[in-house]
Parts: sequence; structure tokens; C-alpha cells
Amino acid sequence: MLAAPSNPIPQWPPFVASAPGKAILFGEHAVVYGKAAVAGSLSMRAYALVTPRTDGLTRLCLPDIGVDTTLGALPSAAAIASLAHPGDVATLLSAALLPQEGPGRTATLTFAYLAGALLPASVRQSGLTLCVRSLVPVGAGLGSSAAFSVSLAAALLRLDGRVSAADSAEERQLVDQWAFRGEQVAHGTPSGIDNAVATHGGFLAYTRGSSPRQLGAAHPTRVVICDTRVPKSTMVLVAGVRALRDQHPAAIDSVMDAIGALAEDAAQRFADPSAERLEDHLRGAVALNHALLAALGVSHPALERVRMISAAHKMPAKLTGAGGGGCALALVPQAAAASEVAAVCAELAAEGFACYPTVVGGAGVQCAARVGAESVAAWVERVAGGGCGDLADAFAALSADALAELAPPVPSKLIR
Ligand code: MEV
Repeated sequence: MLAAPSNPIPQWPPFVASAPGKAILFGEHAVVYGKAAVAGSLSMRAYALVTPRTDGLTRLCLPDIGVDTTLGALPSAAAIASLAHPGDVATLLSAALLPQEGPGRTATLTFAYLAGALLPASVRQSGLTLCVRSLVPVGAGLGSSAAFSVSLAAALLRLDGRVSAADSAEERQLVDQWAFRGEQVAHGTPSGIDNAVATHGGFLAYTRGSSPRQLGAAHPTRVVICDTRVPKSTMVLVAGVRALRDQHPAAIDSVMDAIGALAEDAAQRFADPSAERLEDHLRGAVALNHALLAALGVSHPALERVRMISAAHKMPAKLTGAGGGGCALALVPQAAAASEVAAVCAELAAEGFACYPTVVGGAGVQCAARVGAESVAAWVERVAGGGCGDLADAFAALSADALAELAPPVPSKLIR
């Protein structure tokens, strides 16, 4: 049953909460064996537009993954608190309201969990529309679900008055904690690194079982993320590495040690005040890390193709994530012209790969009711071409280029 309309005066203006995707720079696979890894935030982000309603309904609109649903009564905060695990939230919802499977189902469950736990009674009564647009490719190992969870947690905590701009250490810690629960809905037992990167931004070093460590004065770095579109299973790849280690324990442990040393070393060097020295170091380390991952058997002909094409453009590349297909990351020299990036992307695209020129190490979560001098509502109206009826519908139809206007500014030295 849908909630009856009540409390028709919305007290808050539309706002946007946004959070970035992530890429692993060093240390995948070795991190499973207790070694350090380094990850950074991407400039590709998820954007959650929150608009008030007056009819008591809760609409969730995720146009990039085909979800547009009006949820009836959300689970109560008490019902959410009684769950043994956040992933059990499906037991509190009508099966008819849920997509059968895929990212739409996961995202709807994450929303139901976080909204059930966090939405204050006054907003439940008046209703809201939440429309999330994401420029983070889904299922590519780039932290799309964490970007979703973090933007959602920030938005809901803002409605509850516990978060304002999500820019203080306290607010971010709260957002991170709730986003982790959202990630538990999506992934069961996530490590927490994806939501930590999406919340705090920049670069983080982490080892299993300890809190991620923010790498202070790091320089944002230009990269091209290249999705080979070859499907991979993280579980199968991790199991393959384990089998290899069972056969050759001493040799594989040496490879793991070497990968861990690269990650530790990079973590130290991110604090180097010289961007040129850091870039020089990263170029060598990226190539070496990829070679070590290939020794573990987790590369793929498509990833080797990306590596060769990028190397011919003086952009060293490595696989990022589990390998076996999936994504690679190519380092773009800070001095490279836009035409050089366009040329490497064109060659990679000709192979059937999807390319995303982006920056690693930028801003984390943000929450605001203004875009520059304009209100969010005025910005959406203007960018959508004016005369739009429903703000969420207009936002749902915006192009990726238009959405990118909402992104936090990239340091000017990186724009060419
Ligand atoms: C996958 O993104 C990263 C791996 O190291 C697996 C893991 O850390 O759980 C391959």
C-alpha cells in the first residue's frame, strides 16, 4: 500500500550529492595475501539529485541502469536495525517491487536499506524523488556501487540533518560508515576500500584488516581507463592465483612481496612535492606491477593489446582490478596534449575497447544545493533547456557532458 499524502509543504530545496569511482593503482591480488595496495578516486562520479515531493511517495530513478520505481512504505529504522546482515533487507520488501536481478536490483535494495535506516519521518511523510546518474561504468571494477552508496548515504544523512556539505572529517566518517553498510547489501563482505576512496577521495593505501590510510599531499594524476569489455570473474581469478601459489609457493610469495613493495614504495612517494619526480617513478612502477601481475597469470591478450598500444604513445599501462579482461589504466604524462590522449583513445576504441580519459586522486564526496551561483533547480532547468516539468525527469535526460559540469574542478595544470 502506498503511503497517504500528508505534510504537503517541502522544507528543503533540491540538492545534489556526488561521489567518485575508484581505480587500484598498485597491489591487486597481493592485497589478498596481506600486502599493501594503493587506490585512488576517479573524476568519473555518481550524482544523486534529491527533490522534495508533496504526495508522500518515494520514487527511485536510475536511468543509466533502467530503474524507475515508486516504492511503497519503506522499511522502518527499527526493522533495518533488527537485520542480522544488511544484505537481508530483501526480506523486508515486497518481491513485486524489486527488479529480478542485476545492478537494478542491487541498487534498489541498497536504497531501501539506507533510506529505511536514515530517512526522517517528516521526509517519509512528504515524500521525495531520488534520481542518480552515474558516469562510472557498471561492473568494470571501478567502484560504481560504492560511488552510488556514498552519494546515497550523504544525501540521506543531509535530509536527516546530520550532514551538510559532507566536507568535514566527522561528516565523512559518518557517510563512510553508512556507505559501507550499503556496500554490504551489494557485495556481502566488501573490504571497505571502495567506499573509503569514494568518501575521502585522493589516494589511499590499505592492507587487509586495517583502516585505509589517506596519502596526504598526493598529486592528482592523468590516466586513461580502458575497459576491454572482456568479462571476468574476480572469484575465478583469485582462485587461479591461489592454485598457482599452491604449486609454486616460494616463487609466488616472492612475486607477492615484490608487488607489495611497489605499493609501499608508491605510498611513500605520493607525498613527494615534485610532481615530475613522482610521475617518473610511477611510470616505471606501473609497468613493473603489470609484469608481475602477468606472472601471476591474470593478464589477458586484450590487456596486453592495451599495454602495447599505450606504450607506443609513451603511456605505460597496467591492468587494474582483478585482470583476466576488465580494465587497464594507462598513465598519461602531465605534459601530454589533448590530441595525444585522443589519438591513443582512438586506437584503443578501434580494437573495440571503451576509453575514459580521467584524473585519479580528485575530490571525494560532496553535497550542495547550489552549482556555482545557481540553485541546483535553476541549473537543471537551464542545462536541460528550460521549460522542464519534473526536475528529476530533466536530470534523467541530461547528457554525460552536461553532468560533468557538476564535477568538482580538476587542477588547472592537468587541463590541456
Ligand atoms: C579486485 O578488484 C582486487 C583483487 O585484489 C581481489 C580483492 O582484493 O578482493 C583481485
